[in-house]
Amino acid sequence: MSSSFDFTVVDQVLSANNNSSQYIIAILQDIQEHYRYLPREIVPYLSEKLGMSEAKIYSIATFYENFSFEPKGKYVIKVCDGTACHVRHSTPVLEALWKELGLSKEKHTTDDLMFTVETVSCLGACGLAPTMMVNEQVYAAMTPEKVLAVLEELRGRG
Ligand code: FES
Repeated sequence: MSSSFDFTVVDQVLSANNNSSQYIIAILQDIQEHYRYLPREIVPYLSEKLGMSEAKIYSIATFYENFSFEPKGKYVIKVCDGTACHVRHSTPVLEALWKELGLSKEKHTTDDLMFTVETVSCLGACGLAPTMMVNEQVYAAMTPEKVLAVLEELRGRG
């Protein structure tokens, strides 16, 4: 456990949730909302504060796929690789993102923590295939050329 980790935010989240293990999911959600992921340092800390085993906390956090122990970028790009998108050429879209950002199947997040690229099995907008999503916004009919334009726009936003 890193001794330099600042638990101020975790303490605030705990007190907002009555320091109760009953609210473990809400607690993990609030912590992830703040850091955009779950720093591993929090697990032994929560275990002690909530009287819950670390194994139990890990099992809850890994059960829900929205929780992540891996740091994520400011912009999380989800490329749909469901059937409808796949047949309409989602793979070149994904490859264009990987190439432009220096990412791969193994490396999901840029070192400057600006971008994370993930795949999902359906964004529920198959009629707009191939799709991708940046944070909460859906992008339709993607092509490798459009990927470059979207990245340029996001980089401009900072
Ligand atoms: S398969 Fe891509 S949005 Fe449904």
